[in-house]
Amino acid sequence: MKIGVLTISDRSSAGERADEGGPLVGEIIAKIGEVAVTAVVPDDVEAIVHALSAWADAGTIDLIITTGGTGLGPRDVTPEATKKVIEREAPGIAEAMRAAGLEKTPFAALSRQVAGTRGATLIVNVPGSLKAIREGLEAVLEVLPHAVEMMHGASPA
Ligand code: MTE
Repeated sequence: MKIGVLTISDRSSAGERADEGGPLVGEIIAKIGEVAVTAVVPDDVEAIVHALSAWADAGTIDLIITTGGTGLGPRDVTPEATKKVIEREAPGIAEAMRAAGLEKTPFAALSRQVAGTRGATLIVNVPGSLKAIREGLEAVLEVLPHAVEMMHGASPA
């Protein structure tokens, strides 16, 4: 499985803060596939839509994990951009991450993260904090390979 990791952060894309979230996502997600592409973009709908659709439409990336921009801040637009790109929503993936997060912190309720498919690519939003990345990805790590297999036409388990 080939994976893209997209960090969404104004400060990291401007070089004002090192991107720690993207590398952490890469480290965790490498358990289930190969990180083929990474990028950092600002909290900007057009920039996010452009990156997600370019990777998905290339036809070589099975899974894209985004990190950051899922909250309620004025610049948080990751869910809106992702909804513009996906064709089918997979709400259970986002629900599972929020539910697992809520067992650790009530602040998990503040993430508006979404997940869904574009063509044969699954796109999953994860919040930006390192804690949320660890807790969120851990909650869905085992279901992601099966999700991608099903998108490629495999029978349900
Ligand atoms: N989810 C988990 N599992 N653990 C967390 O600590 N932090 C929350 C939430 N989701 C958190 C979490 C907080 S404080 C915010 S503001 C939102 O994710 C949105 O984060 P983002 O804007 O960086 O995407």
